[in-house]
Amino acid sequence: MGSYILILTNSNEEEDIPLLNFTLNMPTRIHFGKGEVDRAGDIVATYAKKALLVTGRSSTKKTGSLDKVIASLNKAGVSHILFDRIEPNPRATTIDEAGRIAREENCGLILALGGGSAMDAAKAIATVALSGRPIHEYIRGSKASKWKELLPIKEALPIVTIPTLAATGSEANSGAVITNWETKEKAGIGGPGLFPKAAILDPELTYTVPANYTADGAADIFTHLYEGYMTGDEHANVQDELTEGLMRNVLIYAKKALEYPENYEARAHLLWTSTLALIGIAGAGRGGPFPVHAMEHTLSAHYDISHGRGLAIITPAYFEQIILADRPHRLARLARNVFRITEDNDIRAAKAGIAALIHWYKEIGVYDTLQGVGIKREDLRLMADETIRVNGNGTNTIPGTHNLTADEVLSIFEASY
Ligand code: NZQ
Ligand code: ZN
Repeated sequence: MGSYILILTNSNEEEDIPLLNFTLNMPTRIHFGKGEVDRAGDIVATYAKKALLVTGRSSTKKTGSLDKVIASLNKAGVSHILFDRIEPNPRATTIDEAGRIAREENCGLILALGGGSAMDAAKAIATVALSGRPIHEYIRGSKASKWKELLPIKEALPIVTIPTLAATGSEANSGAVITNWETKEKAGIGGPGLFPKAAILDPELTYTVPANYTADGAADIFTHLYEGYMTGDEHANVQDELTEGLMRNVLIYAKKALEYPENYEARAHLLWTSTLALIGIAGAGRGGPFPVHAMEHTLSAHYDISHGRGLAIITPAYFEQIILADRPHRLARLARNVFRITEDNDIRAAKAGIAALIHWYKEIGVYDTLQGVGIKREDLRLMADETIRVNGNGTNTIPGTHNLTADEVLSIFEASY
């Protein structure tokens, strides 16, 4: 802890420490706490009289959360059409169909109930419903993409989100990730039009998340926190400390939620951490690309694996091959401030940090290999090339601590096999 305060003090005497300029817009109204889900109807009613209620194929019916939301809509006099066919890693074809229904039925708002998949789908549906254009035209890197003219998305129908799983932060940010299964492309859409008007965060809705998805979600939150921390500007100490605090919370509360799935404190902290991790505040003034996300999205696009699990699988190799070489001092800082490693030498601290992370992955049950989730070795080369094509924006690399080539991505995939 003392070491980086000392570093800051030293460099402050010698040079100006920059904090990158930033504009931070967090327009989503957040309603957090026990029982807040019952306010869904009143909240939606302030924007529309008829909503498309977007949810996954089974969990919200089994857990009773769908009944609660429908009861609340009915009480507030909001009519709804139910679209309950969103698959994990939501697909463009499903979104186009839901968008057409919302348009034909004159829905004035898209209400998402579910995990990141339902919430991302709702944002995409809100875009399609307003514009009448297929979603693949908006997807970055897609073969049919028109994103240079269509992104950022400025307008969509109003969106309200009710997360049932702590992971993506989609509930209060302006991004969504969509899969075009036919072309095996998974990539983002985004823009100010996609900020939900409101997000209803009721931790009790996450009590039923099974152990595997709780762990996958925790790994996703942790990755949202470390990506910019590793690749971004190194003088945003407020953001760095915020990030480290949030990381410590993920470590602690993921374990607690797994041990006691209906512990309010654990679920509440995990859910709020997931929102804060990707709402913009943790990365403001620091920036930094998300190369591990680019790599994982390719894995999910080809094999439909869980996003968080894919991230956990490739993270150790990414740390060992890229961060340990480019910025070992950042890994060392994470090791000391998050995993409480007491080691003065940066390289040794960084390596101990990687070992501690793997230990946590094992404890929460998210430690795995690409082979373990059914990926064929002969597809690694193709997926490395696709990572660059879909995310590289015309270059032969993706941004990170340095520009990563397809060979470097392949090397990470191979080490994660
Ligand atoms: O599909 P249903 O039946 O709803 O069940 C889901 C699904 O099978 C289940 N589940 C959700 N809440 C539950 C529950 N089961 C029991 N009780 C509950 N309360 O969990 C499974 C996984 O759900 P999903 O929504 O797919 O998971 P997650 O929240 O991790 O979302 C993943 C998607 O979000 C994207 C990912 O790429 C992936 O497509 N991301 C979106 C981001 C964003 N918008 O900012 C950023 C992320 O980095 C990420 O890329
Ligand atoms: Zn993620």
